[in-house]
Order: sequence, then C-alpha cells, then structure tokens
Amino acid sequence: MNKKGSKLQGELSGILTWAVKGCIECHKKPGEAPKGKDAPKLDKKAKMEYFVEALHENCRGCHKAYNKEFKTKAAPTTCAKCHQGAKDE
Ligand code: HEC
Ligand code: HEC
Ligand code: HEC
Repeated sequence: MNKKGSKLQGELSGILTWAVKGCIECHKKPGEAPKGKDAPKLDKKAKMEYFVEALHENCRGCHKAYNKEFKTKAAPTTCAKCHQGAKDE
C-alpha cells in the first residue's frame, strides 16, 4: 500500500465500472433502500437487494476491517469522504 493516491484514484474508476456492471445484475433494485419513519423494516437480505446498499456494504466492510487492523483511517468510511459535499451521518 505505497504509491498512495495516484494509483488508487486511477483504480477507483475501474473498480466502479466493474462494480456497477457486475453487482447490479443480482442486486437489482436501484438506489438505496427506503429510509425514514414510513419505510418498511428490512432485514439484511432484503436490504442487500438494493444496489447501493450492497455496494456500500462491500466498500465499507473492507475499509473498516483495514482501518481496525492497521489502526489507521486511510480507508474512508464516512459519507463525505467519498461523496463530496455530503454530510456525515
Ligand atoms: C451472481 C449474482 C451476484 C452478483 C453478480 C453479486 N452479488 Fe452480492 N450477493 C448475491 C447473493 C445471492 C447474496 C446473498 C443474499 C442473501 O443474504 O441471501 C449477496 C450478498 C451480498 C452482500 C451481503 C453479504 C453479507 O455480508 O451478508 C454484499 C455486501 C454484496 N452481495 C455485494 C456485492 C457487490 C459489491 C457486488 C459487485 C462487485 C455483488 N455483490 C455482486 C448475489 C450476487
Ligand atoms: C478489499 C478491500 C477494499 C475494498 C473492497 C474497497 N476498498 Fe477502498 N480502500 C482500501 C484500502 C486498504 C484503502 C487505503 C489505502 C491507503 O493506504 O491509502 C482504501 C482507500 C480508498 C479510498 C481513499 C483513497 C485515497 O487516496 O485517500 C477511496 C476513495 C476508496 N478506497 C473507495 C472505495 C470504494 C468506492 C469501494 C467500493 C466500490 C472500495 N473502496 C472498496 C481497500 C478496499
Ligand atoms: C467508500 C466510499 C463510500 C462511502 C463511505 C459512502 N459511499 Fe455512497 N456511494 C459510493 C459509491 C461508489 C456509490 C455508487 C456510485 C454512485 O452512484 O455515485 C455510492 C452511491 C450512493 C448513493 C446513490 C447514488 C446517488 O448519488 O444517488 C447514495 C444516496 C449514497 N451513496 C449515500 C451515502 C451515504 C448517506 C453515506 C454515509 C452513510 C455513503 N454514501 C457512504 C461510495 C461511498
């Protein structure tokens, strides 16, 4: 994990192209699972049918594990780190 930055930025668009094409074939529901007080309660399986939930779970799962193991914050886990201008929840 040296060559930080330059290499990863390049890889990221590749990861996304691959992820969007591959994952959505099975995680078919577009966007996020419904949220808010009127939203149905979904178990994990139902939630993972939503493409964005599956994608987030995948990215953040690895990032969290990496940060914990190496006692770092190099791998982003909060919204604003990946979505510019977003507020962290
Ligand atoms: C060939 C079909 C298929 C493809 C392609 C696919 N998935 Fe899945 N995925 C599944 C199935 C089936 C499950 C299990 C759902 C369940 O719990 O019953 C699953 C579960 C998951 C879970 C939840 C795992 C857990 O911790 O329980 C995540 C996260 C996930 N997929 C992410 C992705 C991502 C990201 C991609 C693209 C890189 C992807 N999947 C591509 C079929 C697929
Ligand atoms: C298999 C593990 C793994 C998966 C899956 C993963 N990442 Fe990462 N990611 C990492 C690690 C490790 C780092 C920290 C690298 C470093 O030292 O800067 C990182 C860093 C990043 C960074 C910060 C780059 C920088 O230069 O600061 C972004 C953005 C990122 N990942 C986006 C994503 C996205 C989006 C996904 C899901 C499509 C994803 N990652 C999936 C392991 C992973
Ligand atoms: C590791 C990077 C990463 C983190 C952390 C992350 N996201 Fe995402 N998010 C992505 C990627 C990649 C996509 C799919 C590509 C896209 O649609 O922009 C996505 C898609 C989305 C979408 C659907 C696409 C859209 O623009 O409407 C929403 C909404 C979203 N994220 C909200 C959040 C929220 C809220 C958080 C914090 C709780 C969060 N994200 C954390 C990487 C991340």
